Amino acid sequence: GSSQVYRASTTAPVNIAVIKYWGKRDTALNLPTNSSLSVTLSQKSLRTHTTASCSESFSGPDSLILNNEPEDIQSSKRTQACLKHLRSLREQLEAKDASLPKLSKLTLRIVSSNNFPTAAGLASSAAGFAALVRAIADLYELPQTPQELSLIARQGSGSACRSLMGGYVAWRAGTKEDGSDSIAEEVAPMSHWPEMRALILVVSAEKKGVPSTAGMQTTVETSTLAPARFNEIVPKRMAEIEKAIQEKDFETFARITMQDSNSFHAICLDSWPPIHYLNDVSRAAMSAVETANRKAGKLICAYTFDAGPNAVIYYLAEHTHEVAGVFRSVLPRLPGWEGEFAEQIRPNEYGSLDSK
Ligand code: PMV
Repeated sequence: GSSQVYRASTTAPVNIAVIKYWGKRDTALNLPTNSSLSVTLSQKSLRTHTTASCSESFSGPDSLILNNEPEDIQSSKRTQACLKHLRSLREQLEAKDASLPKLSKLTLRIVSSNNFPTAAGLASSAAGFAALVRAIADLYELPQTPQELSLIARQGSGSACRSLMGGYVAWRAGTKEDGSDSIAEEVAPMSHWPEMRALILVVSAEKKGVPSTAGMQTTVETSTLAPARFNEIVPKRMAEIEKAIQEKDFETFARITMQDSNSFHAICLDSWPPIHYLNDVSRAAMSAVETANRKAGKLICAYTFDAGPNAVIYYLAEHTHEVAGVFRSVLPRLPGWEGEFAEQIRPNEYGSLDSK
């Protein structure tokens, strides 16, 4: 009957890049200036849960409720681009099979929640758009693969395309103007290197600083160092880190991870006006990593920072004790350190709680 409600729920994990995406060659389609590579984190610790529903009994515009607050998606070009793309794929199915209910014509209601503070600057938009795209794709029973869906999630938030897969995920920049080859690809499943761990240090739970889209534009337009990063440095590092992952060579993985985080923050500082994401607590986390590595006589942990001061530390399970020890002794003494949310995260396979 007309009051029937169609519904699908899913979850998507957070991913943290070790080769950073920073720069768009096309701002409307979210096409990047360089490829990037990330590790997908465990959904037990950080994930977005999203339910998408539609019904003839729903009226008015599509809506999204995020963590119990209504979001204005009508004026969000990125969300609209995702919804439009998903609807057109559903329309194609309906055109081929007249017996299918015309879900593409119905108002969508989306309800989403994170199991971590949204404002914590922990790449919540990546998990958010990945979950939104997957929930609607499931609701519409679309046959598209995660790789094909990554192209849609990319239009919501670039980094979201990497949250549709588990393990080690590359986002290939691609060369086509329509973005059809700018998609995510799993380089290795997490089971390939199950000893990998991530420690998240929330230095500041406040959402402040320059938003990523504006920051990237400033960097692309003004940084003198950025062209070398886009054209020479990152392509070389992508090949090196993929090899390190295949060979489970942690020291190379750690070195490239730290170099690439520093290279990203260097082009931010080289932009005009300069963009500062790291603070004194971030720098203390970097020096704690250096201390742990010096004590061990080899690289046992690596830091990386996104568009904010929070640190993510990658290390192998066998070194948990040394890594945790250094952070426990250094960080609580620092002013500005909010120690409550320092979690040990196990990166994991992609999982979902699909229930239709
Ligand atoms: O997807 P966005 O627009 O939130 O950009 C994310 C950029 C970084 O997190 C800094 C790097 C990355 O590759 O995730």
